[in-house]
Amino acid sequence: MPKNLSTQLGQYLPPPVLALIKIAGKEADELGQELYLVGGMVRDLFLNRANFDFDLVVEGDAIKLAQKFAKDSQAKLTVHARFGTAKLNYPGFSLDLATARSETYNKPGALPTVKPGNLKDDLIRRDFSINAMALHLNPKRFGELIDLYHGKDDLDNRLIRILHPNSFIDDATRILRAIRYEQRLGFKLEAETEKLLRRDVTMLDTISGDRIRHELELILQEDEPERAIRRAEELGVLRKLQQSLKVNGWLSKAFVKARQVNTRVPLPSIYLCLLIYNLTEKENEEFIARLNFPKSLAQAMRQTLQLKAQLHNLANPKLKPSDIYQSLHSYTTIAMQANALASESPIASQHLHLYLAKLRYIKPLLKGDDLTRMGIPIGPKIGEILDALHKARLNGEVKTRRDEERLAKSWGQNQTD
Ligand code: CTP
Repeated sequence: MPKNLSTQLGQYLPPPVLALIKIAGKEADELGQELYLVGGMVRDLFLNRANFDFDLVVEGDAIKLAQKFAKDSQAKLTVHARFGTAKLNYPGFSLDLATARSETYNKPGALPTVKPGNLKDDLIRRDFSINAMALHLNPKRFGELIDLYHGKDDLDNRLIRILHPNSFIDDATRILRAIRYEQRLGFKLEAETEKLLRRDVTMLDTISGDRIRHELELILQEDEPERAIRRAEELGVLRKLQQSLKVNGWLSKAFVKARQVNTRVPLPSIYLCLLIYNLTEKENEEFIARLNFPKSLAQAMRQTLQLKAQLHNLANPKLKPSDIYQSLHSYTTIAMQANALASESPIASQHLHLYLAKLRYIKPLLKGDDLTRMGIPIGPKIGEILDALHKARLNGEVKTRRDEERLAKSWGQNQTD
């Protein structure tokens, strides 16, 4: 007797969403199609973890079903005809529909050749047994579990298991995905899976920089990414991304500290700059090139190391606020945050925090126009006076607009004298 999860599904999904899924199943039935909920949501339903990514697989034609269902349920529909997929957007969540497909890998690391198939084909092409379960959604079999690869047993035994021995060779991004799920869920790699993963680590060389970067980004979006990074090192995976990347107690502590500090910068970018903190500039460049980091992130990574090299200048307790401003104003916020977390000098960290929290927002009240109105002739002197006012304000030497005007006037007069 197949296991039926309609009760659990009813408790897991908000009632309007459950109702929608039921209607989708009914409409699939009317079209003579079979509809399934697959992948991460089935896994997370068993684990009682929140998940709002509905992946639906259709035995038949996903686009036809999506078009009919969009009309009846007033969803915004996006169709990718080439991939046989469609997305239905509702306020607050979306449904992804895909036509069941089979995949064959002609070459390790290359994207697979895709053909329409049935649910079984669609499940075997997946990464791990816990991600390869499906729930039937057609009315007569609503909630029935299809678990061809014993994903439920692996969930119970807390194991990450690939579906066939060539899995990591076909798609080595699964190496990074395996580590991510293992550490997120507190599971273990099943013994044979771990053996094959270690054997196939070199297959990461077959994967494009963009795809590896995407997986690294997903790791850095986890709640405690240091766990996966540490595990990646232990499995010999981290050094496949860059030979010199290493984890030590320092890095883990810095990640924890990063979460405690209330930064406005997205945490994953800070984690990334901490990850590369002990690379040389050359190694950093190799890493940037290999993973094809976009310009803005690459700039933050470069500046992190440039600032690190200048940090000794900031470790002087006698620095005035204007000196700190001068040293830091050309760096990106991410580079400063990373250095504030990583610096061994408490004084340098303090100065970085002072800049980030306060100094960067301080500006003189007077503008160039105000100075010309005061009779200071247009020319380079205006810029010099504005700079000097800025400095005076940073150092607390002027407090009011009146103070600034007095100072500007005296400097302006010195010029005309
Ligand atoms: N999948 C796969 N191999 C990949 C990517 C995805 O087999 N390289 C399958 C898995 O079945 C996965 C599903 O596609 O469950 C959806 O992919 P994704 O959204 O990346 O995974 P989720 O399981 O939803 O993971 P997460 O909880 O991290 O979002």
